[in-house]
Amino acid sequence: MRIGILTSGGDCPGLNAVIRAIVLKGIAIHGHEFVGFRDGWRGVVDGDIVPLGRKDIQGIAKQGGTILGTSRTNPFEGPNGGVENIERMLERHGIDAIVAIGGEGTLAAAKRLTDAGLKIVGVPKTVDNDLGATDYTFGFDTAVAIATEAMDRLRTTGESHSRCMVAEVMGRHVGWIALHSGMAAGAHAILIPEQKTSMEQIAKWVRAAYDRGRAPLVVVAEGFVPDHEDNAHTERGLDAFGRPRLGGIGERLAPLIEEMTGIETRATTLGHIQRGGTPTAYDRVLSTRLGLAAIDSVVEERWGRMVALRGTEIEHVSFEEALGELKTVPQARFDEAAIMFG
Ligand code: F6P
Repeated sequence: MRIGILTSGGDCPGLNAVIRAIVLKGIAIHGHEFVGFRDGWRGVVDGDIVPLGRKDIQGIAKQGGTILGTSRTNPFEGPNGGVENIERMLERHGIDAIVAIGGEGTLAAAKRLTDAGLKIVGVPKTVDNDLGATDYTFGFDTAVAIATEAMDRLRTTGESHSRCMVAEVMGRHVGWIALHSGMAAGAHAILIPEQKTSMEQIAKWVRAAYDRGRAPLVVVAEGFVPDHEDNAHTERGLDAFGRPRLGGIGERLAPLIEEMTGIETRATTLGHIQRGGTPTAYDRVLSTRLGLAAIDSVVEERWGRMVALRGTEIEHVSFEEALGELKTVPQARFDEAAIMFG
């Protein structure tokens, strides 16, 4: 079989380890041939493909990013998009099946194409860890490790200056990175999209930590919406007065915390640092296991299915199930973290 691999959506540490595992097992055990689509679905619609042999994947498990490139291209849009064009392109290049590595958007496109008859298997990818069908996604552990290290550093400078430090981490819709890194770093407040929290409550946590002689550490997920910011406006990127919002949520919270507590406050946005660089050992192992299971799916012709971590085992779930509800932070997980705010 000749199999095409693509990585799509935001990049994430561990993508290269998935590619390596698929190609290694596919060549060594099954004698398949591989090509890579450049820049996700963009490479599919444009027929932009590169050969993927053993040499191409040597030593890449520890490399961040993706050797194939990625984009947020929608394969149903543009002059070359759509099922028929893609089918013609696959035929022209003699490609029998696709392994699509990506998050929600990628899997939704993969489902539509599989429903139309294409042979696709999926591998879940999101640094945010918000796909409901899999217990953990690779990239998440790396992001948490980077955020935790950054917060450990923020604490020593915060302590030296008796300041409150606000760290903004990724998490557009869910607060998993904030919850885990905040717990690991011993944050005095963790603010996540799933949990309504008033400015008064935030100020209370900060003040209490300060009064115990600590330099308060607040971790906030980028998708957190404080009570005083109108949700509808926030989603459109406007503040409650209809003006464009300036800065991320961390930058917007810091002056309010300072004003309400009288404690000098600084904000740091960790941004894409959380997605860059070398994956942790855990993420390399998870990525490798998912890649190995994905090639099994292809060999067994389980089209329209995604590999997923369930407990300690890798299982195969339908795209439909994979596209189910977002995995949000349950109340009990937040409450258990909040006990540690002091
Ligand atoms: O979905 C993963 C994620 O890293 C989010 O946490 C973040 O909001 C978004 O991607 C950033 O996207 P981009 O890299 O396109 O700026």
